[in-house]
Amino acid sequence: MKKTCLVTGCAGFIGSHLTRTLLDQGHAVVGVDNFASGYAHNMKGFADHADFTFYERSITEEGLLAELKDKHPELDVVFQLAAVVSVPYSVEHPELTMQVNFEANRDMLDAAREMGFSRFVFAGSAAEYGNEDRLPVKEEYADGAEQLSPYGVAKYKSSSYIEKSGYGCALRFFNIFGPRQDPTSQYSGVISRFVDFGLAGKNMVIFGDGEQSRDFLYVSDVVTSYMIAAGLDEQGRGPLTGVFNVGTGKGRSIRELAVVVAELTSAPKEIDFKSERAGDIKHSRADVSRITAVGFKAEVAFDEGLSRTVKWAAESQS
Ligand SMILES: NC(=O)c1ccc[n+]([C@@H]2O[C@H](COP(=O)([O-])OP(=O)(O)OC[C@H]3O[C@@H](n4cnc5c(N)ncnc54)[C@H](O)[C@@H]3O)[C@@H](O)[C@H]2O)c1
Repeated sequence: MKKTCLVTGCAGFIGSHLTRTLLDQGHAVVGVDNFASGYAHNMKGFADHADFTFYERSITEEGLLAELKDKHPELDVVFQLAAVVSVPYSVEHPELTMQVNFEANRDMLDAAREMGFSRFVFAGSAAEYGNEDRLPVKEEYADGAEQLSPYGVAKYKSSSYIEKSGYGCALRFFNIFGPRQDPTSQYSGVISRFVDFGLAGKNMVIFGDGEQSRDFLYVSDVVTSYMIAAGLDEQGRGPLTGVFNVGTGKGRSIRELAVVVAELTSAPKEIDFKSERAGDIKHSRADVSRITAVGFKAEVAFDEGLSRTVKWAAESQS
């Protein structure tokens, strides 16, 4: 069934991929972004699509959802991706982070429920777990965890609000990568940074011994999880209510990542090791049993995802 969906953060990395897929599958999209960290060029492939309407607005504006529903009475699904996305920025701006990453979600969720929207899907984060050393990380570990930044605190407050409300779904993403990821992003930039080093023919630089590991998920798998959560999956999986980790369930070391990117970019194979950065988490890996139980499985292999990302970066630099 074709739906009209609100995608906030549609000019961002993930929001632009989600919007593209929704339009490709025949849904209509109302997009909202204030360009805090997104770019108009990310919307290039769909900005003039007949079923896409864009509003340069902030999700913190009071009554925004009611106003959009007034203009688009068929609006029925909310994908809330807009957020302060940089962890260091959140440390410098804790109040703004709380407004955007928690209060705006709480208010949007309440409004969506009151207006009878069928689905509300929120972008949570592995940062909700803080420095968790029980691996793989299960959803319930976030309760009682000590988040390390205002970003993590606000994301956790939002997802627990959603969980307690019994309405909507929070997807807790681990490390996402793929085309259109901003290489200047400070919080998830390791792949973009390595690709930049590689394409410039420079040695990879690793802080620490390179054995630290992350659960890297390719962006098209993230989009699939969104479609499942909203009950729009073409294979009929979902919809979802509650909190779900989204990852591969596998950890990849930073050293392994550097080697694969060096091979793909014909960069030198030497790695420059620098001293470990204070506060860096050693390992992070999702327990994906909850989302696996509804049929989700990451489809794009790590090397294939990296190869697509390198290809995109090389083309966009030329
Ligand atoms: N990329 C990752 O690895 C990752 C991991 C976990 C969670 N997430 C979450 O996924 C979501 C999307 O992240 P992304 O990687 O695409 O980042 P992004 O910065 O590319 O996208 C975020 C978008 O939100 C917009 N935005 C920010 N504040 C806004 C506001 N007040 N009103 C309207 N728009 C606003 C930005 O301009 C940007 O276009 C975020 O909620 C992020 O926290 C991302």
